[in-house]
Amino acid sequence: MPSSGLKSFARWRDGLAPGHERDASGTLRIGGIAAHELAQRFDTPALCIDLRVLDDALNALLSAARAHEIGVSYAGKALLLPGLARHLQPYDIGIDVSSLGELVTVERAAFPAARVTLHGAGKSAAELDAACERRVGRIVADSLDELRALGNRTRCAGVELLLRLNTGIEAHTHEFVRTAGDESKFGIAPHELDEALALAREMGARLRGLHAHIGSQIADAAPFVANAQALLDALARVHAQAAFADADTIVVGGGFGVAMHADESELDIAATLAAIRAAVPANVRVEIEPGRAAIAAAGTSLYRVLAIKRFERRRYAIVDGSMADNPRPALYGASHHIVPVRASDAEPVATMVSGRSCENDRLGEAMLPADLRAGDLLAFCTTGAYTYSMASNYNRFPRPPVIALGAGDAALWARRESLEDVLRADT
Ligand code: LLP
Repeated sequence: MPSSGLKSFARWRDGLAPGHERDASGTLRIGGIAAHELAQRFDTPALCIDLRVLDDALNALLSAARAHEIGVSYAGKALLLPGLARHLQPYDIGIDVSSLGELVTVERAAFPAARVTLHGAGKSAAELDAACERRVGRIVADSLDELRALGNRTRCAGVELLLRLNTGIEAHTHEFVRTAGDESKFGIAPHELDEALALAREMGARLRGLHAHIGSQIADAAPFVANAQALLDALARVHAQAAFADADTIVVGGGFGVAMHADESELDIAATLAAIRAAVPANVRVEIEPGRAAIAAAGTSLYRVLAIKRFERRRYAIVDGSMADNPRPALYGASHHIVPVRASDAEPVATMVSGRSCENDRLGEAMLPADLRAGDLLAFCTTGAYTYSMASNYNRFPRPPVIALGAGDAALWARRESLEDVLRADT
């Protein structure tokens, strides 16, 4: 695992996303392969994962974390497939799962259970059973009722437990606010902590510590530090109970922001981890659980233009994907950088790129060459996180394939769904 080539790929260069380059003819290459070759071989839409970019991001995260003795788990909700779990296995990293589906995915990859943490804001009976059967290393309890449900299970004694707290810290991009926490459904309220500890004691759980995740795409260290301090205060309350004197861990969540465009600043993760560590005594173990910072930059979604429309005040490019495979723009107003695969000297024209779903879906607006035409390919950057994992079958569109690109080769992590796949559960 290289530890000094940290920024070799995972960085925007000349307006191109990490891992992207143009060959002599001006064609976009992704992960070292010409994008039109990928489209020819796998068809479009398709999600490409550049393993070099992923490895760089992982190495950057892990070496920064190691420098401050901070443990790392990957938040599987960002993207989870057996191929990815297998890829993560040699790294010094755990995986967070938040459903039985995510758990079975890591099990299929034979990812060690001891390195898996089970999350979830409302866990099903099957998920609680999985924790008691030790199919995961730890469970993060999110409510008093969940603790009661755990306590009703045989074999819950000795289970490794973390309590998710609602610290009332809400992160916004560059700042945070300390609130009563009422706006967030997550975690156990501070006034319920004593009751939670009583329930944990009754069930004979091994309480490892406390957890709080405060937001996503955070661009500043301050909210993380404030969250760590709030967790430390609560940990002192835990230590006041003799049974839990050895609870030594705070998990400060994920949420580390990434650049979505060449001119966007990116959270300095190394500096952020240093700031968190500086706020926490050495005898307290600190952990983080990034999703986006690990996988977002490695992803590129490839589309083919189906039609160009010129209305009076706006040009549209309709592509063969939609909000079904690329939901973040519609859900969050997220803006993914869009690049044409074929280089062109034609004048750039403001273009709304829309999908083919039966909605006025806007995947993104970009300055694209005036000669962009049906058949051309467009690449959406930084789609590794929360794009495939949040994709749906809206309009009964099959979900795209996920292609892992490494060492000049391409391997399927997930094949394209067939129509049969889409119709599978129908009666
Ligand atoms: N830990 C917990 C408990 C979480 O709920 C999350 C994300 C993470 C870690 C990882 O956060 P990250 O490092 O990836 O920001 N769908 C939204 C993001 C939702 C994040 C949900 N929780 C989006 O596409 O922007």
